[in-house]
Amino acid sequence: MTVSEGLDPATHVPLTEQFVGPTGHPLLPGGFGRGMMAVAPWAPMVARGEGCWIIDEDDRRVLDMNNNFTANILGNAHPDVVQAISDAAADGCSFGMSHRYEIRHGERLLRRFPAMDQVRYVNSGTEATMLAIRVARAATGRDPIVVVRGSYHGWNDTVLSTGGPHAARGVPKSTLADTLVVPFDDVDALQRTVRQSDGRIAAIVLDLLPNRVGMVPPSDEFIDAAASLAYEFGAALIVDEVVSFRLHTGGLTTARSVPADMVALGKTIGGGLAAGAVVGKARWMRELDVFSSTGLEGGGTCSANPPTMAAGSVVLDLLDESEIARLARLGDRFRAGLATAFATYGWEPRGQGSLSRLYPLGLPDSAAVAESQRRLWWAAYERGIFVAKHGVAAISTPMTEELIDDAAAALSEAVAVVQKADQS
Ligand SMILES: Cc1ncc(COP(=O)(O)O)c(C=O)c1O
Repeated sequence: MTVSEGLDPATHVPLTEQFVGPTGHPLLPGGFGRGMMAVAPWAPMVARGEGCWIIDEDDRRVLDMNNNFTANILGNAHPDVVQAISDAAADGCSFGMSHRYEIRHGERLLRRFPAMDQVRYVNSGTEATMLAIRVARAATGRDPIVVVRGSYHGWNDTVLSTGGPHAARGVPKSTLADTLVVPFDDVDALQRTVRQSDGRIAAIVLDLLPNRVGMVPPSDEFIDAAASLAYEFGAALIVDEVVSFRLHTGGLTTARSVPADMVALGKTIGGGLAAGAVVGKARWMRELDVFSSTGLEGGGTCSANPPTMAAGSVVLDLLDESEIARLARLGDRFRAGLATAFATYGWEPRGQGSLSRLYPLGLPDSAAVAESQRRLWWAAYERGIFVAKHGVAAISTPMTEELIDDAAAALSEAVAVVQKADQS
């Protein structure tokens, strides 16, 4: 099966109207149960997934390069994951008691982070960054944290201002005042910001491949400056690997030898179910020891539930070094396949390993970039490729060289169409 089989771009009509109407379901704000899915003016609905494919409610079979926003690295309904979930669920979906599945997952996770001592589970990447920041604040007794403008760390109040005033609507001013935002990769600004607060910061939070900054890695100089400042002032260096963990067995933290104190994880580690985790050094993680008189309780009724831990353990077993290397080769092949058309039409295939971002160049502002990416989303979908609305295209293990070549050809066609629309 190639990516275009069974698809007819001419039949681009919202058959999902039978469920949602032309602009989404009126019971859901904006028409969707989850904001990230909206691609104006409407979006198809998925009926089911099958390996690297999704089949939508219009019966279209589309290559799933969205991967649920990079989470589903084994593709959809992987038989081992389904089996693991079903075996675990047969014994009960969640308990108010510890169980063997969280130990198994924890052992696998910590093996990948030799510098880390312990892990605590939560339900999402948002909660993972929130927890790591909370631990840093509790341990240091300080409130301010330093984050990088544009980096997305989830939708908890402490980090939303990285996305600008619109993203931070509804966040208390007192919280905004304690979130010090520095420009991406600006070593001087980072040093100035930390020193101006006399080093009284709780944490510096980094993403080693920040998607919303454009999926470009920070320089060694920036990472070194963050690590030295954190060390000098006793703050925590927190690395957000919610997305980038899939790029290396120990995430980019290990690949780039970043001396992190805590690493926030999510997405892939739950095998497609809702998961998050913080792995960290004992000095910080002891804040979460509820048997100490000052230990933070944390929370999360369903955190570390057995089906999630079982599904995530399958991912950690199957996603070994050689599989990550194979996905990286597919990623390189994909970006190389896009290079000619993208250069012709003013786009750039960014990213590394199994993560790419399709990025339009030379546009005046972020609104123009978003509009161009919206058009690309539709042009891609009509050609049988499902990417994320901000242009992220992720590779999952069921994908082959042939599919990657087909996807690159379809997306090359799609950028040509978008460029014509941008010029008209
Ligand atoms: C780098 C990063 N951190 C944190 C998050 C938040 O994760 P979640 O959506 O699971 O809350 C995301 C989500 O896309 C992310 O990209």
